[in-house]
Amino acid sequence: MKSFKEKVAVITGAGSGMGRYLAVLLAKDGADVVVCDVNEETLNETVEMLRKYNVSVSSHVLDVADKEAIEELPEKVIEQHGKVDLVFNNAGVTTGSHFKDMDEDNWDWVMGINLGGVINSTRAFIPHMIDRPEAAIVNTSSIFGMVAVPGQTVYHATKFAVRGFTESLALEMADTNPNLQIHCVHPGHIGTNIASTARMDEEEFNKNLEERKNSIFTRGAPDSLEEMGNQFREGGMHPSKAANIILNGVKKNKRRIFIGLDAKLLDLSQRLFPKHYHKTWAFFMPFMLLFRDKKQLKSLD
Ligand SMILES: NC(=O)c1ccc[n+]([C@@H]2O[C@H](COP(=O)([O-])OP(=O)(O)OC[C@H]3O[C@@H](n4cnc5c(N)ncnc54)[C@H](O)[C@@H]3O)[C@@H](O)[C@H]2O)c1
Repeated sequence: MKSFKEKVAVITGAGSGMGRYLAVLLAKDGADVVVCDVNEETLNETVEMLRKYNVSVSSHVLDVADKEAIEELPEKVIEQHGKVDLVFNNAGVTTGSHFKDMDEDNWDWVMGINLGGVINSTRAFIPHMIDRPEAAIVNTSSIFGMVAVPGQTVYHATKFAVRGFTESLALEMADTNPNLQIHCVHPGHIGTNIASTARMDEEEFNKNLEERKNSIFTRGAPDSLEEMGNQFREGGMHPSKAANIILNGVKKNKRRIFIGLDAKLLDLSQRLFPKHYHKTWAFFMPFMLLFRDKKQLKSLD
């Protein structure tokens, strides 16, 4: 796909982070955008950011885990914009807890959004996209869909599943409908609000504080949940840069889109050491810090 001009793009989780900047960059490239989020306030902020572009914009407050709401969406989009060319299944959440201590509601919440949301939306939109001359479904997994760490069982369960689902779908479409591109996105650390909005139990957080401070995975861990959210947002690649990498990956028809040096090195570690990759990270980490490009923390503009 060479250009997004005059395409119609649907983006879930467009009220923040990568989803917001996908919407902005697509509008900048001349696409009409349909932004969706469960958070009305932040979604409206995104709509405000889109006003300066001369494209048609519509917004929908919805929960991607709500199958019925998603099933109704394609009709609404087609009524307003006439077609659907691009769908970015980007909405995602997390929770931090060891599996044995995890509240079942939190498990279901993450599964419903990160995996259920991707499947609901793909199922609802595919019939309207298979006959488009150029179209793409872009599902966001994570580098945590390639490698696993402790304390993220449900996130891994969803992100490994999104990857499997998307790769299988890509093979099906390559055979039957090559005009419909299927992409799986694997971001490394992107500086967004995902850690601030994660469902974390404060008591649980404090209970494992010492363990985290001493672990290779979480050394230098923050002292409070708020600090954790701030550190996460300030320490990762700016979401506008990540969104730009996703859109370039779609233009180049890359099935797997890795974002950031951390994602690429972690992926390399599991290719080289499929069973013991986590043991290599003490070696990889200094390279990640050494070659970390400070410019990545700043916005694209
Ligand atoms: N930030 C990272 O380091 C990182 C790394 C790997 C993968 N990801 C993935 O990238 C995607 C985007 O996350 P982000 O980092 O930009 O986070 P973010 O928190 O900044 O944005 C996520 C958006 O999804 C929305 N959302 C949450 N639940 C929803 C629901 N039920 N229905 C509709 N919208 C909902 C939120 O309101 C928010 O606006 C997610 O799938 C996430 O898992 C993020």
